[in-house]
Amino acid sequence: MNASGAVTLRRPDDFHLHVRDGEALAAVVPFSAARFARALIMPNLRPPVRTTAEALAYRQRILAAVPAGAPFTPLMSLYLTDQTPAEEAERARESGCILGFKLYPAGATTHSDAGVTDIRAVYGLLERLQETGLALQVHGEVTDPRVDVFDREARFIDTVLAPLAERFARLRIVFEHITTRAAVEFVLGAREGIAATVTPQHLLMNRNALFAGGIRPHHYCLPVLKSEADREALCAAVRGGSPRLFLGTDSAPHARSAKESACGCAGIFSAHAALELYAEAFEAMGALDRLEAFAAHHGADFYGLPRNGGRVRLVKTAWDVPPSYPFGAGELIGLRAGERIGWRIAAVEET
Ligand code: DOR
Ligand code: ZN
Repeated sequence: MNASGAVTLRRPDDFHLHVRDGEALAAVVPFSAARFARALIMPNLRPPVRTTAEALAYRQRILAAVPAGAPFTPLMSLYLTDQTPAEEAERARESGCILGFKLYPAGATTHSDAGVTDIRAVYGLLERLQETGLALQVHGEVTDPRVDVFDREARFIDTVLAPLAERFARLRIVFEHITTRAAVEFVLGAREGIAATVTPQHLLMNRNALFAGGIRPHHYCLPVLKSEADREALCAAVRGGSPRLFLGTDSAPHARSAKESACGCAGIFSAHAALELYAEAFEAMGALDRLEAFAAHHGADFYGLPRNGGRVRLVKTAWDVPPSYPFGAGELIGLRAGERIGWRIAAVEET
């Protein structure tokens, strides 16, 4: 931060983003396009984006929702199922815009029912994926209902991820949206080719935020917010500047009616203020000088993509987040709706 309370960054990327489809897609894409040069789009539509052909068609629909003149590049991930043919790995690589496959353990989260029921079912595909150099993006939670919801990430590391990383010793793996000290320790101590994304909510909030003054459905996501000790471990790792950690918002829009319900959906929408929220988190941890590398260097470098040109200037000026945004026929409640955010985007320079 300079003396006038401003930070200028190379244009950043969001390496974990849900934009849905149809009217919802049109409602949310402009928020990301105003902040990020590229985003890795998650494939958990209904039905899921399973093939290269489906991903290319979805990518065209996303591009059609980008406001004219905004240079925003969607990068894609394919939804892995027990039936994904091994040859899909080469097709994906040849597309030039697919960065990898997303592993959702079946039942772990929103729209994951078509996911992988047993990791052994996809060994053939993983073998080929490793050869292509594409990545496996992992939702890292076990699904056994007997495992405490706060322990599901740590259990996944021990029972699935660590053995997988060893068995496929050259497979590039992104452990998505890490939330625990155990995940930090695993990623920082892992072999080469393993990285993780970190969301703004897991840097800014702990599980108390789920119950602050009453039950707070708009703070519910999966993996769920964890303890303060876990949040501190994430902050310490990010502050340490490891190139294995990079920006992935997991912004996950759901209509207000689907969140404020007796059985509300998991997902926090943050695209309306994503970079601003990270700026707050980095300022709070005394690490604003680390924000650029986290947001604009580490992810691109991990995926072997060129770093973006252009700049984004953030200023320390508070603004009021609207109480809601239009979302097709419904409403969308963003993180901090009706409250303030301490940072604002002052300018985006595209080249
Ligand atoms: O909270 C979440 N929402 N976690 C996920 O893994 C999926 C996402 C969604 O698609 O809504
Ligand atoms: Zn996600």
